[in-house]
Amino acid sequence: MATQPEPAADGAAASPLSPFRGSSAAPNEPVPDSFSFDMPRDPQWFKRAVFYEVLVRGFHDSNADGTGDIRGLISQLHYLEWLGIDCIWLLPIYASPLKDGGYDISDFMEILPEFGTIGDFVELVEQAHARGMRVIADLVMNHTSDQHPWFQASRSDPDGPYGDFYMWSDTDDQYPEARIIFVDTEQSNWTFDPVRGQYYWHRFFHHQPDLNYENPRVQDAMLEVLRFWLDLGIDGFRLDAVPYLYAREGTNCENLKETHEYLRRVRTEVDRLYPDRVLLAEANQWPTDVVQYFGDPTVGGDECHMAFHFPLMPRIFMAVRREQRYPISEILAQTPQIPSGCQWGIFLRNHDELTLEMVTDEERDYMYSEYVKDPRMKANIGIRRRLAPLLDNDRNQLELFTALLLSLPGSPVLYYGDEIGMGDNIWLGDRDSVRTPMQWTPDRNGGFSRCDHQRIYLQPNNDPIYGYQALNVEAQHRDTGSLLHWTRRMIEIRKRHPVFALGVYSELTGSNPSVLAFVRHHADPSEPVRSPGGERTSTASEPVGSPGGERTSTASEPVGSPRGERTSTASEPGGFPILCVNNLSRFPQPVELDLSKYNGYTPVECMGGVAFPPVGDLSYLLTLPGHGFYWFVLEPPAAG
Ligand code: GLC
Ligand code: CA
Repeated sequence: MATQPEPAADGAAASPLSPFRGSSAAPNEPVPDSFSFDMPRDPQWFKRAVFYEVLVRGFHDSNADGTGDIRGLISQLHYLEWLGIDCIWLLPIYASPLKDGGYDISDFMEILPEFGTIGDFVELVEQAHARGMRVIADLVMNHTSDQHPWFQASRSDPDGPYGDFYMWSDTDDQYPEARIIFVDTEQSNWTFDPVRGQYYWHRFFHHQPDLNYENPRVQDAMLEVLRFWLDLGIDGFRLDAVPYLYAREGTNCENLKETHEYLRRVRTEVDRLYPDRVLLAEANQWPTDVVQYFGDPTVGGDECHMAFHFPLMPRIFMAVRREQRYPISEILAQTPQIPSGCQWGIFLRNHDELTLEMVTDEERDYMYSEYVKDPRMKANIGIRRRLAPLLDNDRNQLELFTALLLSLPGSPVLYYGDEIGMGDNIWLGDRDSVRTPMQWTPDRNGGFSRCDHQRIYLQPNNDPIYGYQALNVEAQHRDTGSLLHWTRRMIEIRKRHPVFALGVYSELTGSNPSVLAFVRHHADPSEPVRSPGGERTSTASEPVGSPGGERTSTASEPVGSPRGERTSTASEPGGFPILCVNNLSRFPQPVELDLSKYNGYTPVECMGGVAFPPVGDLSYLLTLPGHGFYWFVLEPPAAG
């Protein structure tokens, strides 16, 4: 029955800004995650986790100084728990001049004072853990701020201990094949430093000098940073800008073997001392290059446990706008298998521009012509908009995109605010367009902060469609038909069926190219299935739900649903296959699917639990409304 999200033990949820205080009721509680202090060993947790990306600065302000902070985030953990989040990814929280959203770090072992203290951070991790959620944070290994004491020492004392911490040169003509990433602001990867009288190398902003990984002391220094946070209990890192650690003449200075060697060293260090942590690579590269970041497949992967699937993301937008499944089908077909211990991270939007680096020129032109109505919406090689405005605030499309995010192979990573369909502000500079304050309530500053309106770090969205007065967590929490409730329910369904997380992906050929249909299933050991983008593991010999694994739903332990939906059972390791059918067209479409492998199975729709006609000898006919989708559990004849 309806339960209210549990208030924080320390009374944090009793904040007057808490959207849930005294409010009613959600229809279903999500399936609890396996994480607990009693049973902490769970090396595969990240494969099943739903991630949520938090901009600490923009989430919640606990002390009314206009800037979100760690205590503010702690006060809203109950919201993330209620939503069904398993792992929070914190954007940079370190000391920083904040010229690049904190990716310009001036001290790796200090928290930005506005965000709080190390003590606050430890409390965040503890409180998140107590709620069954994990916490990972951005770690920027490639560069520092030019304000970092290492750089200050390096520029003023070339022969001193930090002289070789950065990449200095008398000329600016080395590594000409390395592309410029921030094309809007930078003309070169070299900048002259008048203090040292030399040029320094930087792949991003000129105020972010790249560290010199040829120097063993730099390698060690970053490992020390890693250990510092791991010792404080953090569950892992998103490794920022990881392809660029090393540079070599005659190459484009990306994905070099030296970089991979160093990552293996990082991984060895993590495995040696800190079990069950995760390394998530941000490598905006083609699939064949990204898979290298998982490392050696013969040992299940020995570099990063996870990597973002950058090429997939724009192709979801492309496929829906073109009303054709091919962009998605083709990129997944080109995606090599990944090692058994690894998982993709998939996403629709994040704190950066919607990057179009991993598409062809023609595809980029198409994306710009479809999704950029005003030149202000462009940034670098991408589009600086949020999900809802990109999709014209169309509820059907928002649902379709979210359903794809939650069902394609990989762990989904949600961007804060997208679960309520937050808008953006293209009148703000750079990527601040998508970094405005979280909209909690219709009150002052959207419930984000009690400070004077003028003091806030960025004004909350205030327009008639996406403004906080109308669009906020409190309102959507009260409205059980809201996008927020819908998203929560979908997360819950995904978590009820571990096959979404662990199963292979097999696309079905159908009669209609506007329909993307696929089955997520556990590999049948007797019949190897080619699985683009899926993983090769999770066979019957490796049951899910083993001690330390996720609690799978079993027939004896049904997950409560007033509508009586059926859940996967333990009779099949990891549960029954799931059939996902997505209509990428805005018009209703029929599709005939070849389900001959599942002859006799009964498709049971996941939301309502309604059994559809069993699969027979003929192809299976479905009709879908415009931008509609279905998720079906395929129940085998014996259980049907
Ligand atoms: C990554 C971050 C981005 C940042 C850049 C430089 O791409 O996602 O926000 O500006 O690295 O650190
Ligand atoms: Ca604050």
